[in-house]
Order: sequence, then C-alpha cells, then structure tokens
Amino acid sequence: MLRTSQVRRVLVAMTAFASVAAWQAAPAAAAGPLKDITNRYVGSAVAANPLASQADYRSVLTREFDNVTPENEMKWAVVEPNRGQYNWSGADAIVNYAQQNGKSVRGHTLVWHSQLPGWVNNLSAAELRTAMQRHITTAMGRYKGKIRAWDVVNEMFNDNGTRRQSVFQQKLGDGYVADAFRWARAADPAAKLYINDYNTEGLNAKSDALYNLVRTLKQQGVPIDGVGIQAHLATQYGFPGGYQANIDRFAALGLDVAITEADVRVQLPADAAKLNTQASYFKQLWDGCHAVARCVEFTTWGFTDRHSWVPGTFPGEGAACLFDTNLQPKPAYTRINP
Ligand code: XIL
Repeated sequence: MLRTSQVRRVLVAMTAFASVAAWQAAPAAAAGPLKDITNRYVGSAVAANPLASQADYRSVLTREFDNVTPENEMKWAVVEPNRGQYNWSGADAIVNYAQQNGKSVRGHTLVWHSQLPGWVNNLSAAELRTAMQRHITTAMGRYKGKIRAWDVVNEMFNDNGTRRQSVFQQKLGDGYVADAFRWARAADPAAKLYINDYNTEGLNAKSDALYNLVRTLKQQGVPIDGVGIQAHLATQYGFPGGYQANIDRFAALGLDVAITEADVRVQLPADAAKLNTQASYFKQLWDGCHAVARCVEFTTWGFTDRHSWVPGTFPGEGAACLFDTNLQPKPAYTRINP
C-alpha cells in the first residue's frame, strides 16, 4: 500500500514533468524532504524547548520528518521527579505538536536505569514492582492512541551481553522484562512495543544477547513487537560489522526493527573528510534499514548540530547530525537524499 508520502512524491514528480517552465526554473534540489523519499517513518528526537521557542527548528522538523521522539520529556525522572508528583508539560507539548502536524510519536522510554528519579532506588522489591507497573500504565494511558511505538525497556544489557545490574534487575530478577511488556500491552493495546539498546547495530556479544532474549520472549508469548537499534556511531570506531545481517535476523523472528537514535559523531574540529566519512555511515545506516522490509523506522537523535547531546556527553566530539547549526543540510543529508 502506498503511504501518503509516496503518493505526494508521485504527484510532485508528475507536476514537475508536466511543467517544463517550473522544471527549468528550479535550482538543483533534493527530490523532496526526507519523509517523502521513503515509506519508512523518518524521525528525529525533539526537545520541547527549541520546539516552542525556535521557529526555524520547528519548521525544518515539520518539513523533513514524520516521526518525533521526545528526547527527555517522557523519562521517569522528568515526569515523576517525586513520588506521585507528575509533570507532563514537555511530553504534552510534543504530543500536541505531533497531533496537530500529523506526525507519529515514538514514546521514550519506560523502564531504564538512567534518568530514573532517586526515590525509585529506595523502594522495596514489592514497591518497585508496583511503581513500575503504575509508571507504565500512567504514561501509556495518558497518551493512549497517540503513540505509535514505545521503547518499553531501554539499555538492559552490558556490552559483553550480560544483563545490566539495574535496580530492576537486582530487585525483581530476570522476569521484570516480560512483566513490563505485559503491562505495556494492557495499557495501550494498539502501541507497538519495543526493546531498545545501543552498540547492537552489528553482530557482537551484545546483539547476540538481545537476539537470544527476544527470541525467548517471543517463544513465551510475551507481547513484544520490535527491536530498537539506537545507532549512536562515531567515525573513529569504524562502521559496525554485520549491520545488515543483524537487522535481518531480528526481522526473521517476526519482529519489526527501528533505527531509533541515529547520529554519527566526529572528533572536533570537523572537516570535509570527516563529514564525508560521516555521510557514508549515515548512508549505510539508511540503506541497511531500507534493505529489510521489517525495518519500519529511521529516527535520528536530533536533526541539527545546534541541538545535540553529543558535545555535552562526549567531550571533543560533535557535529553528529544531518543538519548544521544553521539548519543547512550537511553531506550526510545529501548522501541520503541527493
Ligand atoms: C540523552 C539525551 O539526549 C540527553 O539530553 C540527556 O541528558 C541524556 O539522555 N540513549 C537513550 C537516550 O536512550 O535517551 C539518551 O538521550 C541517549 C542515549
């Protein structure tokens, strides 16, 4: 079935063909915005502040993407900093933007060891179980029907493939993962439920562990729909080996795959050669997803170097996004969308 973006693209192409004058006048330009050159959801992480205060940020986001993922606004520490005291303002703003502009939303994220409010660490096992269920039910219930997909469990593995000893793992044991997915399905039966992680792009110990877990969950009838591959890459480490094969093996289990947080950082200062390598990494990420029918989403972790987590998190690195600080497309953008 053609998605509306594809229909639009065909119409644009027909119009351009019919109107020679318009075609002659047009400068060399991309075929259209990113969201119109693919039948995958194309998204970006979004922060409520620039969305509200920067018209150019909002307009490029609206033009290029058809999915948004709240960068921090749905995290537990943000929505319930004190037990029972909620703040949904940023999350509401992003969901309202999405509703008004016809964007899909990826909910991010429900069960995660990081950006967890302090009070959660002090609960007994029984209280933690109840709090986790309540958190999932409250967040998903609030936006029921408005969120296409949720990252239910985030970053539960160590790089060597063992389970991260988060408070959930330590107090609730292995079963917390299945519990989280069952509660999530009950809270919003229409939402696609994902497990999400980083350093799981290629074939390695961590992606093997993830693969073995989701295969087991499927066998046990646990309601999981997809695997999110974050794809925070860095040019100095090389492109992950076996990326395509890895997506393939998850799809073969009958799961959807989403690239959920793509960015490709470079060591600063950036130069033409580094941005060219970055472009080839983004293109490989994009093509690998598009080679597998069940890779349904390609979301970047921010779209502009003006607003990216990279410089603050990885000192000396940056320039990780498709658009520069002035919202001009970088070589990575034009490699994907020539
Ligand atoms: C990051 C945000 O971008 C930062 O603003 C915040 O300070 C820390 O978290 N993996 C994830 C995201 O799943 O939630 C993280 O987002 C980046 C790594």
